[in-house]
Amino acid sequence: MAEKKSTTKKESDKKTSTKTKSEKKTDNKKTSSTKTGAKKTSGKKISSKKTDNNSMLDEIKSYIENTVIGMLPEPDGMSDPVRNAMVYAVKAGGKRVRPLLMYLTYKAFSAASNSQTAAEQTAAPGSQAEGADNSGTAEKSAAPHDKAVEYFMAALEMIHTYSLIHDDLPALDNDDLRRGNPTVHKAFGEDVAILAGDGLLNYAYETAAKSFISCPGDIDVEKAVFILASKPGLYGMLGGQAVDVVLTGKRPTAEQLSYIYSNKTAALLECAMTIGGTLAGVSGENLDKLQNAAYYIGMAFQVQDDILDVTGTVEELGKDVSQDKKNGKITFVTIYGIEKAKEYVKQASLLAIKLVDEAYATITPTPQTDEYISILKNLITQMISRKN
Ligand code: IPE
Ligand code: IPE
Ligand code: MG
Ligand code: MG
Ligand code: MG
Repeated sequence: MAEKKSTTKKESDKKTSTKTKSEKKTDNKKTSSTKTGAKKTSGKKISSKKTDNNSMLDEIKSYIENTVIGMLPEPDGMSDPVRNAMVYAVKAGGKRVRPLLMYLTYKAFSAASNSQTAAEQTAAPGSQAEGADNSGTAEKSAAPHDKAVEYFMAALEMIHTYSLIHDDLPALDNDDLRRGNPTVHKAFGEDVAILAGDGLLNYAYETAAKSFISCPGDIDVEKAVFILASKPGLYGMLGGQAVDVVLTGKRPTAEQLSYIYSNKTAALLECAMTIGGTLAGVSGENLDKLQNAAYYIGMAFQVQDDILDVTGTVEELGKDVSQDKKNGKITFVTIYGIEKAKEYVKQASLLAIKLVDEAYATITPTPQTDEYISILKNLITQMISRKN
């Protein structure tokens, strides 16, 4: 993965088209503190007992929620005005799609690495087994990156939340409502909102870096940090936001639209699934497949977001509707219409599932990984008709 440069992917290969042929999978995307870990962070371990998919998904969601909230910064007095805004934004909720995709990918593809575990975990000071912060989350028999994936899930959700705080600012989309609450600049003022976004971005890396303590010298963790550093950046989410902002009020070409969506939105979903895959030991072509799957999920996700801006309700979305029109944003829906947009969401999501299946077909499954892959695929399917 190290030599796969996520920053050099060919945007021209990733058209926002309604073409469905699975061969698009070959769209040749280039692939891919000091208080370290001392805080009680995470929720209970997910039980592996057989339950139906939906109740297991609920259990996973609550585990992720506890993990993300548990890793937020503690108050220290002086910096609390910004820290409180950071915590407000993350605690407001949200679907936690990115950590969910990371976790399900990690668990579904962890089969190959399950066997190496306990011995590796017992060794290093501060390691998972010794447990700077085990809090029941990493059994002795768990995969070696169970603790690291928690740090990365929390970090990615912090980065995503920072992107929302800044996206909502008066200088960008000028939104008043987010996750059912007043936006951060409305609640805390614009100055604090800018700093709270900066704070979450920085704290995300402080959090992810704790994996170096739980997994010292671990190459997969190093690769995951690289992914976490690149996907949200100039050649990822930030680049997409940049073009989105610059083209406000103008009609983007198909290539520009594709660039915006694949970066402002798909890049963080690629970040989620490639980190999940990398921590599970997936590499090479299979990691490319996971990245391409995440790309299609991300494209579908943004098109659905555009649809919901037109058809959704404030109550369901927790954010104001008709904001794209208000802001002069020409979206996929503006250009192609709602019906084509819906069809695109469906076909891109089916393509993503096909790519996930192809990657999964190359590993040696276990009953446990079968369960996780099935939940992952159900989640992707549910996202086609999501209402928020
Ligand atoms: C909103 O993301 C921004 C987009 C990329 C469309 P989400 O729809 O994942 O927002 P939350 O996290 O659930 O609030
Ligand atoms: C924003 O896209 C994507 C981000 C990187 C934050 P939108 O501007 O469409 O997201 P919403 O509709 O405000 O959530
Ligand atoms: Mg925006
Ligand atoms: Mg917005
Ligand atoms: Mg939107």
